[in-house]
Amino acid sequence: MSRIRVEKAICLEGELRVQGSKNAALPVMAASILHKGCTVLHNCPHITDVFVMEELLKALGAVTCWEDHTLVIDSRGICNTGIPAAPAEKLRGSILLAGGLLGRLGCVEMGYPGGCVIGKRPIDLHLEAFSHLGVVVEEREGRLCLEGKSMTGVQHIFPRPSVGATENAILAAAGATGITRLEGCAREPEIDALCDFLQGMGVDISRREGSVRIRGGCSLRDTEYTIPPDRIAAGTLLLAGAVTRGRIALKEAPVSQMSSLLGLYQKMGGQYLVRGGTLITDSRSVRRPLPRVRTAAYPGFPTDLQPLLLVTCCTLQGESEIEETIFEDRFRILGQLEKMGARIGVKDNIAKISGPCSLKGCLVHVPDLRAGAALLLAALYAEGETVVEDCTYIERGYEDLYGDINLLGGRIRKEIDG
Ligand code: EPZ
Repeated sequence: MSRIRVEKAICLEGELRVQGSKNAALPVMAASILHKGCTVLHNCPHITDVFVMEELLKALGAVTCWEDHTLVIDSRGICNTGIPAAPAEKLRGSILLAGGLLGRLGCVEMGYPGGCVIGKRPIDLHLEAFSHLGVVVEEREGRLCLEGKSMTGVQHIFPRPSVGATENAILAAAGATGITRLEGCAREPEIDALCDFLQGMGVDISRREGSVRIRGGCSLRDTEYTIPPDRIAAGTLLLAGAVTRGRIALKEAPVSQMSSLLGLYQKMGGQYLVRGGTLITDSRSVRRPLPRVRTAAYPGFPTDLQPLLLVTCCTLQGESEIEETIFEDRFRILGQLEKMGARIGVKDNIAKISGPCSLKGCLVHVPDLRAGAALLLAALYAEGETVVEDCTYIERGYEDLYGDINLLGGRIRKEIDG
């Protein structure tokens, strides 16, 4: 077991570079198996989810190597269609290997994906899209067997947007005969990144708003791609500045993908400007509450930053309200915040926060990745020392959040048992 000890921090200050995007790297890694050749990914974040995805690629027959933040994937040897259960259960992104294997080999055998427990997280939208492409879906002893050797292009309309199902359908369609038109797609920037990568590899793909068109069966080529910066990691650091009323500059922050957060940041009193690709933030005047925030699919306020904004609202003067509309169980942080002294009521997936809360450091446990980052922010605001148990969750998505915060003036120490 590992934990971090976090001291209260006043006014974090300094400049950091934003890491590569976890949720762009995972689909791009899955897409690399479409091509019987080499893929070079620059700016790949050193995070547990990427390392587990790499382990899965090697289990399927790929060869990989790293040089600093560049990951090279040679997928000429991909021949296994069975995705091993143990690593796959560690992350939701493992399900994207289904689309990659269908597109490459026309079949896959796998368990259900794992990942953060923030709701039921079904995969019906993935399987419906596969079936519509002609994939035969069977379940045998808890494992899914997908056979799609004769996938043909279709027009598929998603009944509601899903990031992963959109990405999976794109990957499978790249191996289908003919043209596939996907409607009602999710519009997260990570899907743009996947489309850009696939275009670079030679896939005939175009995207306009919620529609994606793919012509399958193209001849593919070796390609290099740079993973874009992580908008959620950037938002995490911005809000670390907000809770400590600090001044933080974020180099290469994807500002155009952060509009909903930046709008809320200004509402609470934050000030920012963009200079030469760096987002410069000043949180000294942050204090106004946020009476009505709703999470939504992109470009709305991202559910992944909801726990972190909830903690920020604990530091604001007055009544704030956040409604979670994407996942049905994404307030699992509340019990830990109440241990620290927060007063937050929840009804019908709407959290009401009466700030400012006087939080006191204590022992807290991390329920999932983004709640873990949020507890770290709460610890920066709380009086005294906070011990955050099970902090390995945080390392699934953040390359060095503790080191980043310490570079800005924080005091975080990691301890590992045994
Ligand atoms: C992706 O998860 C991200 N993960 C999540 O980030 C992010 O919170 C989520 O998109 C929403 O933006 C990765 O990209 C690896 P969805 P995904 O399918 O694809 C329901 C993080 O912290 N749904 O868009 O699993 C689902 O239950 C993670 O980095 C179905 O009903 O999200 C949810 O209510 C957490 N059936 C909604 O759709 C399905 O088949 C949106 O989920 C699939 C999803």
